[in-house]
Amino acid sequence: MKDHPVIDTPYTWTYYRGQSPIRINYVARLKGVKTKPHTDPFTYLELGCGNGVTANALAASFPRGVFVAADMNPEHIDNAVGLAERGCLSNIRFINKRFEEIYNEDLPSFDYITLHGVYSWVSAEVRREIRDIIDKFLAPCGLVYVSYNTMPGWSAFLPLREIMLSHTAHMEEGTLAKVAEGLNFLKVFRDNNSAYFKNNPMAGMILDTWMKNDPHEAAHEFFNQSWHPQYFSEVNAEMEEIGLRFIGRTEFEMNFSDSMVPACLRPRLEDTKDAIEYEALKSFIFNESFRRDVYCKDTAPTAQEGSESLFSDWIFGEFGIEKPPPRDGCNGKHEGKLNHVCKNVNGRRTVAELNLLAALKPLEEDEITGCVHELVAASRLWPLAIPMRQLDGVLPDKFSIVHDFNRTFLRERLVKDSHCYLASEVVGGCIKVNLIDGLLLLAGEEVGLSKAPVRVLEIIEESGKPWRRNGKEVSDPAQRRRVLHDDHQAFCKTVVPWLLGTGIIEPSV
Ligand SMILES: C[S@@+](CC[C@H](N)C(=O)[O-])C[C@H]1O[C@@H](n2cnc3c(N)ncnc32)[C@H](O)[C@@H]1O
Repeated sequence: MKDHPVIDTPYTWTYYRGQSPIRINYVARLKGVKTKPHTDPFTYLELGCGNGVTANALAASFPRGVFVAADMNPEHIDNAVGLAERGCLSNIRFINKRFEEIYNEDLPSFDYITLHGVYSWVSAEVRREIRDIIDKFLAPCGLVYVSYNTMPGWSAFLPLREIMLSHTAHMEEGTLAKVAEGLNFLKVFRDNNSAYFKNNPMAGMILDTWMKNDPHEAAHEFFNQSWHPQYFSEVNAEMEEIGLRFIGRTEFEMNFSDSMVPACLRPRLEDTKDAIEYEALKSFIFNESFRRDVYCKDTAPTAQEGSESLFSDWIFGEFGIEKPPPRDGCNGKHEGKLNHVCKNVNGRRTVAELNLLAALKPLEEDEITGCVHELVAASRLWPLAIPMRQLDGVLPDKFSIVHDFNRTFLRERLVKDSHCYLASEVVGGCIKVNLIDGLLLLAGEEVGLSKAPVRVLEIIEESGKPWRRNGKEVSDPAQRRRVLHDDHQAFCKTVVPWLLGTGIIEPSV
């Protein structure tokens, strides 16, 4: 059966960091797969790229990579091509075709093939077409990233989607109107305690989330003709058919998820000898609804355990301006060791250099590397693509945004979305900035850092968009100036040094 994906409503403008080559490569090496060094030139294919935010941002972050991205929706491809052109990206091309046609395109082999938000939203036949493309075009040591809706996490929502679709099937209006009508219709049953919602509290929670989400996302999530959340074991079996092997996940913490399994259930898990059954059982224990999995060819070479480090030349850096999530269950002594290692990771030292550092003696090499991985899993450190730039400690008043992609994307999306993504060659992908930091960045380039707050106020006023802080509108002029003064100080103290270090901005004369 052929699909009819939603095409009357464009998708959102989101960057998905799990699709970055550095993060995919990190997962592969963590699991002992000897991959091509991430510093070498590489080829990259994205299937179902939507508006092309992720593909374009990665092309900006990896100038030595060659990127191809494909989507059947002409509006998405127009948006993606426009962004690439205005962002002066010359290492990416977009193809406006269906997957079945892409199979016959004249394309090179790819070191990375990724698809995000696609695999669960197409029919079994189109999934087959996707696998055919992977089978034909994946390089011998290539890596695949596939994200998908996962069972059992979606089980409570399956009947709700059915009701939503049948209730709106007769409507002549476009998909966005169907989203609003479908969700409101369901809410009536939830608010009136219908038995389904009473017996499945998870269904009500998911409904609440979708009522708050961007309706463009709901349009593509539920209103495609196909929507098939799958069990991990099903997706794995489909990938095995084309000779792929599951290696791990770009939600880094989930590669260490054994410790998150409640102690009383761990013996059940440990009794499971088969690696795939083990992963499937964990997916059930966590009631997962989404996964970002990495696969390699089952012929890919692996390192002998303990014989060699696959990370000696890797560099790690602190999480930067995005706050790491809070953690619980830390044990004091171990936490002290983690903090000590973290302090010595400076975004410039390789793991080999870290291991030779006198300040970290008497820790053994394995212990140091183990701490680094633990800190990555806790989102306190990131693997970096290249070393952070060295700072001279002087805050420049005049600076320029290095990449045209960042300037274009900020100008076009920041006020509309109230956030934006900044691509960095150091990070090997993007970091998210909030509205005010993004505006201070744009205004700072235009009028200098010291005068930026005045310009930001003007931009906010010109936009006519309500400005909210902690859910409340900041409308009083005096309050606006006060809030902006504090934000400007924090921006200069923490954000500017980080933007300089990651090569997103550079001082100008
Ligand atoms: C939910 S969107 C995800 C877009 C993007 N990956 C993202 O996450 O922002 C799914 C995309 O897959 C595309 N798509 C679905 N079926 C396709 C097919 N058979 N051939 C090419 N593109 C397809 C749709 O047009 C849509 O842009």
